[in-house]
Amino acid sequence: MPTLETTVNGLKLPNPFVIGSGPPGTNGNVIGKAFDEGWGAVVCKTISLDADKVVNVQPRYGRLRSRYSDEILGWENIELISDRSFEVWTDEFKQVKDKYPEGVLIASIMEEYDRDAWRKIIERCQDVEVDAFELNMSCPHGLPERRMGSAMGENPDILEEVCGWAMEVAQKPVWVKLTPNVTRIEDSARASLKAGCQGLSAINTIRSVIGVNLDTLRPEPSIEGYTTPGGYSCQAVLPIALRMCMEVAAVIRDEFPGCTLSGIGGVETGKDAAQFILLGADTVQVCTGVMKFGYPMIKAMQEELLAFMEQHNFERLEDFKGHSVQFFTTHADLVKRQAEARAAKKAGRKKMITADHQWDGDDFVNQSDALARG
Ligand SMILES: Cc1cc2nc3c(=O)[nH]c(=O)nc-3n(C[C@H](O)[C@H](O)[C@H](O)COP(=O)(O)O)c2cc1C
Repeated sequence: MPTLETTVNGLKLPNPFVIGSGPPGTNGNVIGKAFDEGWGAVVCKTISLDADKVVNVQPRYGRLRSRYSDEILGWENIELISDRSFEVWTDEFKQVKDKYPEGVLIASIMEEYDRDAWRKIIERCQDVEVDAFELNMSCPHGLPERRMGSAMGENPDILEEVCGWAMEVAQKPVWVKLTPNVTRIEDSARASLKAGCQGLSAINTIRSVIGVNLDTLRPEPSIEGYTTPGGYSCQAVLPIALRMCMEVAAVIRDEFPGCTLSGIGGVETGKDAAQFILLGADTVQVCTGVMKFGYPMIKAMQEELLAFMEQHNFERLEDFKGHSVQFFTTHADLVKRQAEARAAKKAGRKKMITADHQWDGDDFVNQSDALARG
């Protein structure tokens, strides 16, 4: 019987399914609900020391539906980080850890470009015994206007510097959540791990415009007739997330063995999770999926992942983690492999001559040769 239990950066998880930072981890109450339902870990909604600066708007979500059904395929949000005070959060972290001592609680944190602020937020979260940190270097909307989030994560030099500040005081594992809004995510991965962080999470949302209303001619979501580009998530981003995870996993494998990866983007099923793990993820995070299907979706996801493992006789996640990364190569190599395979097939076909009518006058010599070689 396979097991989903796994140990990541020393943290023991009952399964690799992690609540991704966002509404599904937005207060102590819902974090408790996630643990009750059996989620392997929870990353809270991103918090900061000064929530007074965080002012959200409504509406702040936009959804892309299939042209042929009501199914939601894509989801844009212009939501900011948590608007709840840091003191309320630390109280709730403490209550959650008191009630769920085994529950793995990961604090998603974000600060301005200020060494003292980063040190302070980490130290204060450590005081209330969170299990790990996820540094949000990747929110693509709102916060970059204050030089936070992806404004830092898009620049590998700043990323390395800020991650270094965090590592000066961190006594718990630190993951860095990367932005997909860069040309080469490998550079961000390398910068974060060079600073000493133990893990990466990828991806945050992709900068997007969800659509333009053809009656009002205004882009959506419309706030007093105006909008701002948001962050795209849900099933539609899965292929982009898989590609980026594969690239990050290759950096970890070649340059930072032992560091970990949390795969994020469009995960809704156990089969989605299996693909992220095959491309090098240790855990997978789900955010929009929980907003569509609710916390109980964890049950079906676990069953699907276990069924996949049984099908292939995998006992543990490590048995297939990263297995498929080796099958990526250059296009030139694909051309070479295909030419070789076709040549081998052709030679094989000639060898197959078993009846006299198969002799072909145009290729008589080669066919004779193939039969001589056996
Ligand atoms: C409404 C909403 C709010 C989010 N808020 C945060 C956040 O506070 N911090 C963060 O790191 N990521 C945040 N995210 C990004 C998700 O954690 C995740 O990286 C992204 O949505 C892709 O995964 P998904 O397709 O499973 O949602 C948010 C996503 C959504 C949809």
